[in-house]
Amino acid sequence: MQLIQCQSKDDAVKKVAGILFDYISDSTKKVFGLATGRTMEPVYAELIRLIKESGADLTGKSFFMLDEYYGLPDNHESSFKFYIKTHFQNPLGLKDEQIFFPPVHLDNAGEKYEEDIRRMGGVDLQLLGIGQNGHIGFNEPGSRKNSLTRRVDLTPETIEANREQFVGDIIPVDALSMGIGTILRAKSLVMLATGKSKADVIQFLVNNKDDPSCPASFLKDHNHFLLVLDPEAASKIS
Ligand code: F6R
Repeated sequence: MQLIQCQSKDDAVKKVAGILFDYISDSTKKVFGLATGRTMEPVYAELIRLIKESGADLTGKSFFMLDEYYGLPDNHESSFKFYIKTHFQNPLGLKDEQIFFPPVHLDNAGEKYEEDIRRMGGVDLQLLGIGQNGHIGFNEPGSRKNSLTRRVDLTPETIEANREQFVGDIIPVDALSMGIGTILRAKSLVMLATGKSKADVIQFLVNNKDDPSCPASFLKDHNHFLLVLDPEAASKIS
């Protein structure tokens, strides 16, 4: 794991957006894994700015989402599909065929998604956030290192942490998530953590590996795992 501690949240966001932009601009890199959540909103805003400013052509690039809630009507405002359309797809005018949404409407959703990722040649760069309980995607504590895309239950803490993002009355309790094994197959991983609510989990992650109580710790042996932090998220690292 390589660690980058930035001077400000803005610097951390720009660092991650710049890495994504460099990958996206590289003609040999075609497949990207996208995360959602509050942390990523400014990253997408900066990435879109960089792409528009440079006139980069995203034809032939494909994007796979990390996860999606069950139990929401298609395109519901709480869904990650709605999020990624709003914050990424629509501002860049990307075609539907370029974005792979976890197929929550299918019975064999996990197998189908894994097959789609394989068929496209695997993920070149996976963007990741981290939950306060160490989850990556929605691989909650106790998830197995070799887990693949599957239906997962959300923990009460995750539901609570995400409550302010839910629109309307439906509170999702489960999701389809890429597994830890799926994430580990990506050629490069870049994780961004910002804010003091992530300080404890980042301290744990920096000091531990392969601990099922913190799923992100399974990533530490990945050959290309970059962790980017703002000062608040890094504040408990000694
Ligand atoms: C989102 C995802 C989650 C979030 C994590 C942090 O696609 O997979 O693992 O990255 O819950 O969310 P925020 O950024 O809202 O704190």
